[in-house]
Amino acid sequence: MDFGLENRLSRIFNPRSGRTVMLAVDHGYFQGPTTGLRDMKNIIPLIPQADCLFVTRGTMRNSIDPRTNTAFCLRVSGGPSILGELSNEDIITSMEEAIRLNASGVGMSIFVGAKNEDRTISNLGRLVNEAQRYGMPVLAITAVGREMGRDTRYIGLACRIAAEIGAQFVKTYYCDDFHKVVEGCPVPIVIAGGKKLPEMEALQMTENAIRAGARGVDMGRNIFQSDSPAGMIKAVRAIVHKGATAAEAFDMYQKGRKQAAEAADARMEKV
Ligand code: R5P
Repeated sequence: MDFGLENRLSRIFNPRSGRTVMLAVDHGYFQGPTTGLRDMKNIIPLIPQADCLFVTRGTMRNSIDPRTNTAFCLRVSGGPSILGELSNEDIITSMEEAIRLNASGVGMSIFVGAKNEDRTISNLGRLVNEAQRYGMPVLAITAVGREMGRDTRYIGLACRIAAEIGAQFVKTYYCDDFHKVVEGCPVPIVIAGGKKLPEMEALQMTENAIRAGARGVDMGRNIFQSDSPAGMIKAVRAIVHKGATAAEAFDMYQKGRKQAAEAADARMEKV
């Protein structure tokens, strides 16, 4: 057994449920001040509800209390901004930095079917080689190029490649017949949320993904751009860890939203 690797993975995947709610807040690394993340203080109340954050080193250094108990997985790829060729990424954060920050994993994107497909996949191989020396789990993110379809054929291809190159877990997008993607990928898959959806749709997608065999989420915009981020992350947790249905989780989200509105009213009355 690789103790370090397993120990780090158990900080990401809750040992009781075998699943994870990762809160993705790395968007600024190519998008700049993304809606909902303009002020990173907004995510602080959500951190205790996450099993793991997906973050850049800049966010860890500047915005997160080092005494936090929540694990984090460090995005280590980057380079282009949203104005450039997105697939032109390289590894920009060292393994030494990941260890120094006490990351429980490192993550990078691969761009299957895009311009720099081969380089991003080789970079993943190199990252896995290095991570292996330190027992550091690697998350491969299957970025979907603008011209790529989100279907089992394409997503299945990208996830399988990520696992074959050696990633310990994979983040990808949900698609119809997602169980086929899961069947073809020998390592755990977590789903990204993608663009903001109405809350019930995002919760239904989460339920569908979990039922199809996903081991959790690494969700960003559908949580931090919700009108109740706290209610939404609790609702997602209920599906991922407790097997709640989307309808049950939606009730939780609505309660969270109501509580937040009442608390805001109470604050206004005091002013
Ligand atoms: C891309 O910006 C990052 O890899 C995100 O972490 C990933 O897309 C998940 O975030 P969202 O749920 O907003 O798609």
